[in-house]
Amino acid sequence: MILVTGGAGFIGANFVLDWRAELDEPVVNVDKLTYAGNLGSLAALKDDPGHHFVRADIGDRETIDAVLAAHRPRAIINFAAESHVDRSIHGPAAFIDTNIVGTFALLEAARAYWSSLPEPERSRFRFVHISTDEVYGSLAPDADGFCETTPYAPNSPYSASKAASDHLVRAYHHTYGLPTLTTNCSNNYGPLQFPEKLIPLMIVNAIAGKPLPVYGDGKNVRDWLYVGDHCAAIRTVLARGAPGATYNIGSNAERTNLEVVHTLCRVLAEQRPGRDYGAQISFVRDRPGHDRRYAIDASKIHNEFGWTPRETFESGLTRTVLWYLDHTAWLQAVSSGEYHKWISLNYTGEPA
Ligand code: NAD
Ligand code: DAU
Repeated sequence: MILVTGGAGFIGANFVLDWRAELDEPVVNVDKLTYAGNLGSLAALKDDPGHHFVRADIGDRETIDAVLAAHRPRAIINFAAESHVDRSIHGPAAFIDTNIVGTFALLEAARAYWSSLPEPERSRFRFVHISTDEVYGSLAPDADGFCETTPYAPNSPYSASKAASDHLVRAYHHTYGLPTLTTNCSNNYGPLQFPEKLIPLMIVNAIAGKPLPVYGDGKNVRDWLYVGDHCAAIRTVLARGAPGATYNIGSNAERTNLEVVHTLCRVLAEQRPGRDYGAQISFVRDRPGHDRRYAIDASKIHNEFGWTPRETFESGLTRTVLWYLDHTAWLQAVSSGEYHKWISLNYTGEPA
């Protein structure tokens, strides 16, 4: 049994679905179900006796202790977080509460549980912390990609809160010996991503005939990784990673935001012809403190474990567009009143 936190969110749900499809081992899935968590993403597991869902906050020590005692997992994989940079600019408090205080509470629960385990379970236990490349800050145009020893320089409340959580995880290994593993990954895209993030937002707006809001000059660069490839990398790190180590995950798919949006418009035009989606592009006010470029050097995980992404940016993007076109009911369900309030606040400055 493994325990996944945040398994009703984008990457967590993909991870749980892939895990149950590929492995026999049960999962207990702890998620608070914030606006970003959606049980509809896990509908395929409705009758799966190997998936146990618990609605709880990772900061709720009593409930987490009870879940650990009842299910006795061999590993905890922590996806739970507030994850959207723009939201962290409008309201940083939730990011401090979940990403820092929540991770601290989860680490304390994990430490108490792990300390109580008999051998060999104690030696085999792992705490995997899912983090981001944003902790390293912004890269110059010609600089090498972030590697595991790049100094931390977070620039947004989101990345600062993730950096703090990474430091706590590191300290729990160094001080208490908790067998932790940390992954720092680049931008993910794929099925089940909440349509506040660049790629699903652009797909949804393009189909609806709405403006495609590109921040600033559109030349900020991200390194895009298909979510299924990220999930495979996490499984590899869980199985083979050295306790205390960190692993950077990315796919050498650097694109400017404008390139991403133009590629999306091309893919959409192939699937849904008849409209010039590119004409919907609209340049809007830049994100405050907007990091210019991220890029990952993933040679450590590649050299040590042979992990390499299977999807190219173009193949992954086509799969993603097809998924969104086929899942309008999922989209409608997540685009609730709260979603419209956020879109209005972020793009017009006014709550809806
Ligand atoms: P997401 O926002 O889609 O999902 C987060 C999930 O965590 C939601 O289901 C939410 O309900 C849950 N959650 C939030 N607060 C919680 C709490 N206090 N207790 C329990 N559950 C809580 O995020 P995502 O994009 O799936 O990201 C997952 C993890 O991966 C995050 O830690 C993020 O920092 C990291 N990450 C994301 C990306 C990316 O491109 N999306 C890239 C690298 C790393
Ligand atoms: O790098 C990993 C990170 O990637 C993760 O840690 C975060 O959880 C995840 O949200 C993502 O952060 P970004 O800020 O890079 O992703 P986002 O999809 O919000 O934006 C991608 C780029 O697109 C960024 O340069 C901002 C720009 N953008 C975004 C939105 C929502 C726009 O130009 N217009 C938009 O409307």
